[in-house]
Amino acid sequence: MDTTSTAAKRDFLGFSHLDAGRIVELFDFSLFVKKQRRESAAAASYRPIEGKTVAMIFNKPSLRTRVSFEIGVHELGGYALNLDGKSIGVNSREAVEDIARLLSRYNDAIVARLHEHSIIEALAKHADIPVINALTDLSHPCQILADAFTLYEKGLWRDDIKIVFVGDGNNVANSWIELAGLLPFHFVLACPEGHLPDAGLLETAREKGAGTIEIVHDPFEAARGADVLYTDVWTSMGQEEEARERLETFREFQINERLLSVASPEAVVMHCMPAHRGEEITAEVMEGPRSIILDEAENRLHVQKAVMVKLLNHEEYRKFHLTHRLENVAGKLKH
Ligand code: CP
Ligand code: NVA
Repeated sequence: MDTTSTAAKRDFLGFSHLDAGRIVELFDFSLFVKKQRRESAAAASYRPIEGKTVAMIFNKPSLRTRVSFEIGVHELGGYALNLDGKSIGVNSREAVEDIARLLSRYNDAIVARLHEHSIIEALAKHADIPVINALTDLSHPCQILADAFTLYEKGLWRDDIKIVFVGDGNNVANSWIELAGLLPFHFVLACPEGHLPDAGLLETAREKGAGTIEIVHDPFEAARGADVLYTDVWTSMGQEEEARERLETFREFQINERLLSVASPEAVVMHCMPAHRGEEITAEVMEGPRSIILDEAENRLHVQKAVMVKLLNHEEYRKFHLTHRLENVAGKLKH
C-alpha cells in the first residue's frame, strides 16, 4: 500500500509499498472473502465496513471496476456513491485538492479512475482517507492483483511461471511490470517498437528485481513455452483518435490459435476486458478451453473487497491473519 499524507492512512495507487509477503496475505484474504460469499449465511453476517461510505469518481467509462466496487462495498456492509467525473470536473470545475479534502469530510475512502496518474497522486496527498486507483493512464493495479490472484487460486503460480503480455505497453502492462519487481516470475512483453511501457516503472521494477522482465517485438518469440498469454485492447481509453493507425501497427500482436500453439500445452489465456474479438484476440481463443478470462473478471470483486478491508478496517484484516497463522501452527503441531 502507498502510505501518503498521514501516518495512519494507507492508499492503493500501485504496488510500491507492498512486498511478496503482503501480496500473499492479500491473496489469502481474497480466498477467504470469496469462499464466504459462496456460503451465503456467513456472507450476510460479515460486514467489516458497516456504516462506511466510499466515493467513486469515474472520469473514464467502466463496467467491471464500477460494478465490482459498488457490489463489493455493499457486500461488506458499506455504501458506495458513484460520482460521474464529468459532473464533478476534477481540476476543471474544482481543484483536486479541494475535492480530496471535501470528500474526506463525508466519506471513508475514494475509488478513482482518472487520466493522468499525477492527479490521483494529488488526490491521495490531499485526502485524509484511503484512495484506491481504479485505473489511470499509467497503471491498473486492481486488475493485475486480481489476475495474479486468479493464477494463485488455480494453483498455477510458480516462481518460474512465464507470463507473456502481447500488445501495447499500456497501463495494464505497466502494472504487470510493477508486480514483477516484487514477485518472482518471468514477465515478457511483446509490443511493437514505439509502444513501450513506462520507462520509470520498468527501471524501478528491474532494480527491485524479484522477477525478470523482457521486452521483445516478436510475439512468436515471446509466446514460445508461455504459461500465460495475456492481452488487452490495442487502443486504450483516451487514445480513440489513434484507433485506425493502431489497428495497423498491432495487426501481428493478436492472440490466436497459431500463437497459442507455440505456448506451453497447458497455457491459459487472459484478458482484462473489454475485449475486441478479431483484434487483439480471436473469438475462437476467447471462447476456447484455455481461456480463464471470466474467472479473472469475477476475481476483481473478491480481491478489491480484500483491499478495502485492509484499508478501511485494518484491525479486522490483522485479526484474520493472526487467527490464520495460529490455525496453521496448530495444524502443524497436530501432525
Ligand atoms: N478491466 C476493467 O477494468 O474493466 P472496466 O474498464 O469495464 O472497468
Ligand atoms: N488499457 C485499457 C484497459 C481497460 C480496462 C484502457 O486503459 O482502456
